[in-house]
Amino acid sequence: MSTDPSSDLRLDQAGASDEQLQRVHAILLREKPEPTEGLSPLPLMLLGLMSALILFSAIYLGRYSGGFDPMVYDERILPGMLEGGAAPAVQDPKMLGKRVFANCIACHQPTGLGLPGAYPPLAGSEWAIGPDERIIRILLDGLSGPITVKNTQFNNSMPAFGTQLRDEQLANVLTYVRSEWGNSAPAVTADRVKQIRAAVTGRTGPWSPEELLKIP
Ligand code: HEC
Repeated sequence: MSTDPSSDLRLDQAGASDEQLQRVHAILLREKPEPTEGLSPLPLMLLGLMSALILFSAIYLGRYSGGFDPMVYDERILPGMLEGGAAPAVQDPKMLGKRVFANCIACHQPTGLGLPGAYPPLAGSEWAIGPDERIIRILLDGLSGPITVKNTQFNNSMPAFGTQLRDEQLANVLTYVRSEWGNSAPAVTADRVKQIRAAVTGRTGPWSPEELLKIP
């Protein structure tokens, strides 16, 4: 190490002399792992695993993708319809609504019981079987704020479905909700949803339960 004050300051601060540096490097050089011949087995195993995964995924997609046909996600399509079979003239709205309910089960659960403390129940809910305009608005624009369902308080948010679901789908899912799990309330028609949708155009952001309770 140079003791000359005019020498490179950075080296002085690092506090390392040439001998020290050389000693450290010597240790590092000495302690290198032994070079081995051939490929190490781990990358080979990984490669095999990845290949198997890709093969599996390809077969899975080929088998279950439905040919990437957008119609497979249409709840109105019945088995056989795409092969040219005639569609039934009238489909049961409740049956179609049950399929649309796939959008709701993550929170309200297939049982309609919701999750205590987080998601309110639809089974036996006074909201579900109450005035249809309230629940149509909930589906169109979402819901947020303190709400009492079956004498239990919830304060959470529900996303809007107005842009992703058609009037008919919203009507059917509400018809399902209003007649499943022992619920018994009149069906909701697509025309009714259309009417409410028109009445609330321009609305942005979720409704609050308080606002909705004012609707008779
Ligand atoms: C991401 C979770 C989530 C999804 C998905 C969801 N909801 Fe909700 N829902 C909620 C929450 C949370 C509330 C209560 C909001 C609050 O606290 O103000 C609620 C409230 C409701 C209510 C009024 C209160 C009650 O329990 O009766 C109805 C009716 C309802 N949802 C129906 C539906 C339907 C139908 C769908 C599917 C199209 C759906 N929800 C999808 C979370 C969700």
